[in-house]
Amino acid sequence: MLIAPSILSADFGQLKNDLEMVKHAGADLLHIDIMDGQFVPNISLGIPVMEAISTYSDLPKDVHLMINNPENFIKKFIELGADYVTVHPESTDKLEYCLELIKTNGAKAGIALNPETSLDTVLPYIRDIDLLLFMTINPGFGGQKFIHSVVEKMIEASNYRKHHELSHLLFEVDGGINEQTAKICLENKIDILVSGSTIFESKDVKRTIQKLRNP
Ligand code: DX5
Ligand code: ZN
Repeated sequence: MLIAPSILSADFGQLKNDLEMVKHAGADLLHIDIMDGQFVPNISLGIPVMEAISTYSDLPKDVHLMINNPENFIKKFIELGADYVTVHPESTDKLEYCLELIKTNGAKAGIALNPETSLDTVLPYIRDIDLLLFMTINPGFGGQKFIHSVVEKMIEASNYRKHHELSHLLFEVDGGINEQTAKICLENKIDILVSGSTIFESKDVKRTIQKLRNP
């Protein structure tokens, strides 16, 4: 599995060091959570911090937009270095347009499913996306507990991927990842694990990343 540290849990007073630290510890990509205080009840980071992240890290950037009307900001985040851009279907009435915008601006497109959002929601768009993100917490904050009922949806999706020749489609899990829940994800064919608190609270980040990758 690929490991994507969630910058939300970094120490913003020494962001440059934290970016270098996760790179040397073996991170595969950076997960960047953008929140607007509207779509989710929290505000995280925005354009200036995204700029700083791009300046100080050459790791691929996986931008998770938790904002209303993401279509207004997709192009900007890609200009600032996003390689993947993921949107929530509930945040826009222009989902198809969002996916198109992401791809025409040269990034890979993802859809995020909240714990309560069914797989059916994404099926009409499944051939248009590169990444399916399973939220295993309600979005807004790091440090929450993995919601186990989402595993059923992962199984359903992995059967769907297998039977519909969608092997290029990546599955990502976000929320409550630790060694135990990473194992569940590995068993259920997940390709990318996002981890905020487990990685940034670890005393040995390199070892923690290795453990998450091979739980
Ligand atoms: C929350 C974010 C997550 C968060 C995960 O809405 O999408 O990426 O940082 O944090 P942990 O790994 O601590 O659950
Ligand atoms: Zn996220």
